[in-house]
Amino acid sequence: MSEPVRILLNGERVDVAGVPPQTTLLEFLRDRRRLTGTKEGCAEGDCGACTVVVAEARGTVIRWNAINACLRLLPSLDGKAVFTVESLARADGALHPVQQALVDCHASQCGFCTPGFAMSLFALYKRARRPTRVDVDDALSGNLCRCTGYRPIVDAAAAMYSLPPFDDWRAACGEDAAARADTELARALVPLERHAALDYKHAGQRWSAPRSTDELAALVSDRPAARIVAGMTDVGLWITKAHRSIDDIIYVGDVGELALVRATPHGLDIGAAVTLTDAFACMEASYPELAEVWQRFASVPIRNSATLAGNIANGSPIGDSMPVLIALGASVVLRGTDTRSVPLEAFYPAFRTTAIRPGEFVAAVHVPARTPGLVVRAYKIGKRYDQDISSVFACFAMTLDAGIVRTVRIACGGVAATPVRAEQTERVLVGSAWDADGVERAAATLAAEFTPIDDMRASAGYRRAVLGNLLRRCFHETTDTAGLTWRVESPALVAGAPS
Ligand code: FAD
Ligand code: FES
Ligand code: FES
Repeated sequence: MSEPVRILLNGERVDVAGVPPQTTLLEFLRDRRRLTGTKEGCAEGDCGACTVVVAEARGTVIRWNAINACLRLLPSLDGKAVFTVESLARADGALHPVQQALVDCHASQCGFCTPGFAMSLFALYKRARRPTRVDVDDALSGNLCRCTGYRPIVDAAAAMYSLPPFDDWRAACGEDAAARADTELARALVPLERHAALDYKHAGQRWSAPRSTDELAALVSDRPAARIVAGMTDVGLWITKAHRSIDDIIYVGDVGELALVRATPHGLDIGAAVTLTDAFACMEASYPELAEVWQRFASVPIRNSATLAGNIANGSPIGDSMPVLIALGASVVLRGTDTRSVPLEAFYPAFRTTAIRPGEFVAAVHVPARTPGLVVRAYKIGKRYDQDISSVFACFAMTLDAGIVRTVRIACGGVAATPVRAEQTERVLVGSAWDADGVERAAATLAAEFTPIDDMRASAGYRRAVLGNLLRRCFHETTDTAGLTWRVESPALVAGAPS
């Protein structure tokens, strides 16, 4: 007899059995619990109609994160608290400040998108007391509205802090009631904690969630054909869009050791269960120039589920993290019967093929410490600012000495079958002056170095031209004192609110 999955759903403990492991959280909420406030729009993480908030204990702290219910498989919520839009209003019918602000600002027309916006704003309300306009835009980057327009919704984000907060778990970040409620929630989650692996089975499907790296290694070795999953933002689509049946799943997200980022003098070791939200924040501390490309990676709810290891292991030629990590000289730590490290630039022998051997998994990604004087620039070119896949991605990491390029690593995405280094261009640049003539020669080489394809995102000619232009842009940004800004800061959205 399989153990049930244990979830705290809108404050009530629910033990789930009798549903296949590859059931999405959205299907469970709507079909099994009749919580139909959470909508299905796209079922691929793009529209935000399915946004819910997951609260998990990290030590004594509760993390409140918006996620897309359409892609997360239900057993991954084991031991966590899930809040849907139905939980926001009080039992006496009083609307939560987030909902009231949406009403007051006329931020809803047909209303289909509204529960998703409310939950994204609720997560923001629980995480930030004084968000900037950039924070608000970012929090809403995964939510689409077809009718209202975004201005009233952004107005609601500012107005929600001015309304009287509820005196319970729904209270705003920083309120005493919120702190008390976090402690209560942490207590309520204790009985759901597991010290041994969850092994959940139904209808011929199996979900195993080990607790330690050794347990994970043993499972992967015993079941080399099982699908390893982390955030499910790629794998979820195979189920909802390709209608694939994934019968044997090993989940890495509950392995505590893999949920850590270790900082050493040599750099960061980012565990395979660390979400992109956390991984990017750690990398940004050493490489602040990457802030914009990380902000443009998918949306907040996707980044709250997805992992760096998943992005790398998925092996897409248009994945955004790989050009950056290759340019920085990152390596992948693989664990099987032994542990080995593979430079990321050698990790992709062919299109969507990786160096992972049967019985191995990605344990961590090593990002080298910043060397003195390193200049870094990364550029994502896509049709939209937020929530779009790259047409071209390029990252430049170099050291300059007296106006001469001493070292350079250039890595690109979207121009070949795998993420690649631009070695010919690097050879042209090393030893050359970092001036207009030197850069023109290198830009011409870069534009001719690859043979990209024409597809719906961009033509081959466009991709080649853009690559050359990105090197020119890097030159202007690093030499032009007038400077092109690479990060837009904005004042606090709620002037005068306590931080
Ligand atoms: P999963 O879906 O869990 O797994 C992905 C693959 O990695 C699977 O093959 C799985 O078996 C394997 N895997 C996972 N963990 C391990 C491990 N530890 N060891 C071995 N194999 C493992 N990607 C971008 O690059 N840029 C974007 O802007 C972007 N936007 C997106 C927007 C949307 C709406 C969606 C749905 C996806 C987007 N993606 C984007 C793709 C996706 O979010 C990323 O690739 C993400 O990092 C995958 O991580 P995950 O943890 O969700 O992986
Ligand atoms: Fe569109 Fe989930 S239904 S993001
Ligand atoms: Fe209709 Fe947003 S109110 S989609």
